[in-house]
Amino acid sequence: MGYILAPSILSADFKNLGEQMKITEENGARYVHFDVMDGMFVPSISFGMPVLKSIAGATGQVMDVHLMVQDPIRYIEAFKEAGADILTVHLEACKDVRAAIGKIRECGMKVGLSVCPDTAIEEVEDLLADIDMLLIMSVHPGFGGQKFIPGSLDKIRKARRMARDKGLDLDIEVDGGIYHDNVQDVLDAGANVIVAGSAVFKGDVADNTSRFAGILDSCATKGGGRISSDKI
Ligand code: DX5
Ligand code: ZN
Repeated sequence: MGYILAPSILSADFKNLGEQMKITEENGARYVHFDVMDGMFVPSISFGMPVLKSIAGATGQVMDVHLMVQDPIRYIEAFKEAGADILTVHLEACKDVRAAIGKIRECGMKVGLSVCPDTAIEEVEDLLADIDMLLIMSVHPGFGGQKFIPGSLDKIRKARRMARDKGLDLDIEVDGGIYHDNVQDVLDAGANVIVAGSAVFKGDVADNTSRFAGILDSCATKGGGRISSDKI
């Protein structure tokens, strides 16, 4: 199944984090989306390696780590050691993006590359063959609970077209402002990995997760045109 829900724990209830992750796992979320913010690349500060280390072993879910960190190459090994399975860096945060991609690969993790809303998708075109997942931000990174930027849909379509034209089985993850009532548009545009924070953790976590999982499953059944890679 190539359609994956990645609940962002940024919006979770931290005093019950383990339990909340378990609920998302039981209701169909295969990833945990782990947002690392450094107070430099983005204004806010979230959490880092020690928290990842403590949760990575507590669930069978894939640890999908999104580094909103300036010069992220400094932390690639540390996040591998803490339990990251997929490590995503921002194009805008890297001095040498190819070096960062190479180092993530060398450490044995899946490689993610992210672009902010103001970065054109063409800027990553030549890198698509070297990554496993493109993360398209549909809000300006830094905070949960923002409104989906509608122009992101065109960007997703363009990215999916580029990947197809190159014959790439690329995961396209979309992050920010995704709710049950707009996720279908995001999927129809060509995304297959859906990040949702507020829409999963505000309210009934089990119900929110299983409703998303149902939408993603029916997309997979319809055969949304994407062949899943076997590792993720
Ligand atoms: C924003 C983060 C997101 C965020 C999404 O910078 O990268 O993962 O938690 O939260 P929602 O789904 O509430 O927009
Ligand atoms: Zn994120």
